[in-house]
Amino acid sequence: MTQDELKALVGQAALQYVTPGEIVGVGTGSTVNKFIDALASIKDQIAGAVSSSEASTARLKALGIPVFEANAVGELSVYIDGADEIDARGHMVKGGGAALTREKIVAAQSRRFVCIADESKLVQALGAFPLPVEVIPMATARLVRQFAALGGQASVRMKDGATLVTDNGQHILDVTGLQITDPLAFESDVNQWPGVVTVGVFANQKASVCLLGTASGVKTLTF
Ligand code: 5RP
Repeated sequence: MTQDELKALVGQAALQYVTPGEIVGVGTGSTVNKFIDALASIKDQIAGAVSSSEASTARLKALGIPVFEANAVGELSVYIDGADEIDARGHMVKGGGAALTREKIVAAQSRRFVCIADESKLVQALGAFPLPVEVIPMATARLVRQFAALGGQASVRMKDGATLVTDNGQHILDVTGLQITDPLAFESDVNQWPGVVTVGVFANQKASVCLLGTASGVKTLTF
């Protein structure tokens, strides 16, 4: 099976976690796009979605799924999203699609985080994928130095020859060379650095379940 087919497999499998009549939290990325496409097939059975990005909002709306503001609704029963890396305890690195801040907000508003990923995303330890960090632009140079002090090399993410601007009007640093041995402590520490909006380690908002697409089908990991 191709990676694209594995993504479609887990996108479809995630439908079993959607409660009829409710609003579902929706993440961002190519795997979530498969989930959104699958969700369209049961759109008459759900109340709508809270979305984690302008891109997912546009896709949901184009398929006729109502999108609600996070502030307009209460706690959600489930949030479904992909990951760049997930470890055996459900800790993740996210933000490859630059949507990490809104992803963490919707995840925090949800009782359960169902991660959908192909098996290439399962890792022994987080840190091989460059860690995305959303930052306030005026803090960039100092944050680059602060990551360097931890042994990391941070670079400002570019898109189409210009600095990428997130849905929140901020920038992304991608940091390589980090050893994230204690994801919970790392997340709490870096989140307090002035100028950091959100660090892409999801340990406080870790996955409850991971639907992992493998050559032999969907494996369900629970944490
Ligand atoms: C976006 C994310 C995505 O969930 C992550 O990048 C995985 O994306 P994909 O499903 O395209 O591999 O965190 O900010």
